[in-house]
Amino acid sequence: MGKKIAITGKGGAGKTMIASCLAGIYSDRGDKVYAIDADPNPTLGQALGFPEELLKNIQPLLSLRDLIRERTGAAADSLGSYFLLNPYVSDIPKKYSATYHSISLLIMGATRGANTGCACAENSLIKALLRHLVLEAAETVIVDMVAGTEHIGRGTAVSVDAFITVVEPSMRSIQAGRSILQLSKSIPGLKNWIVGNKIRSIDDEHLITNSFPQERIAGFLPWRDEIISAENSGEGVYHGVPEIVQKMQNMLNAIENDERC
Ligand SMILES: Nc1ncnc2c1ncn2[C@@H]1O[C@H](COP(=O)(O)OP(=O)(O)O)[C@@H](O)[C@H]1O
Ligand SMILES: [Mg+2]
Repeated sequence: MGKKIAITGKGGAGKTMIASCLAGIYSDRGDKVYAIDADPNPTLGQALGFPEELLKNIQPLLSLRDLIRERTGAAADSLGSYFLLNPYVSDIPKKYSATYHSISLLIMGATRGANTGCACAENSLIKALLRHLVLEAAETVIVDMVAGTEHIGRGTAVSVDAFITVVEPSMRSIQAGRSILQLSKSIPGLKNWIVGNKIRSIDDEHLITNSFPQERIAGFLPWRDEIISAENSGEGVYHGVPEIVQKMQNMLNAIENDERC
């Protein structure tokens, strides 16, 4: 079985940048990697350096109304209808992903449920898919998520090898990180880690060390303008900023050597 890693944190903290580097690291180790973009505003493909023509052809799963209807047995947009809690999903990763440099990208897309009430059938499909990818898939799976644990499901979350919350040195980001950590306390056995990103000074680092239990901090990544240039040029951070990749390798070592792994 490949490693399963989920990445959360407030928007802008660096989740997608970190997810793209982890995908690159595992892929270079020879793993077959699934990179899952579970952010309703998907940008993981760009961060991975996927060519535009390839990205254009990836259909966000939640935009596939017929698929949702067919698999869950519900009219995708009807409230309160009956739907399957355990729809068939194991063919989906292969069928709906695109592969570039042996990383396969799957885009979840956005639910329409955010402001319109329940999106149960859609959530049921996404949860089942994440459950399948984490519990059954032989591949390494990196999930770039929005904040929190809600759409990964408790049963799935415990089986993730590392649940990484990315924080930047701002009070809002730290508060978001603390509430994610708080929520995750209700899931005993969750292997949660904090990564401090965009560090520009020792004070930045202290702000984070003073806000989280020391033993939960996997490490820090410095602010680097090169990260932004590597993403903008389409090269991606994994190939463009070796210093960051090296630091991330060290963090992974700490995570993988933790006795809870
Ligand atoms: N360590 C860093 N130094 C400088 N810029 C960074 C760093 N980490 C991320 N960024 C930039 O910050 C922005 C937000 O990062 P991103 O990974 O998209 O965050 P998220 O996915 O959490 O919303 C991007 O433009 C990215 O290039
Ligand atoms: Mg992102």
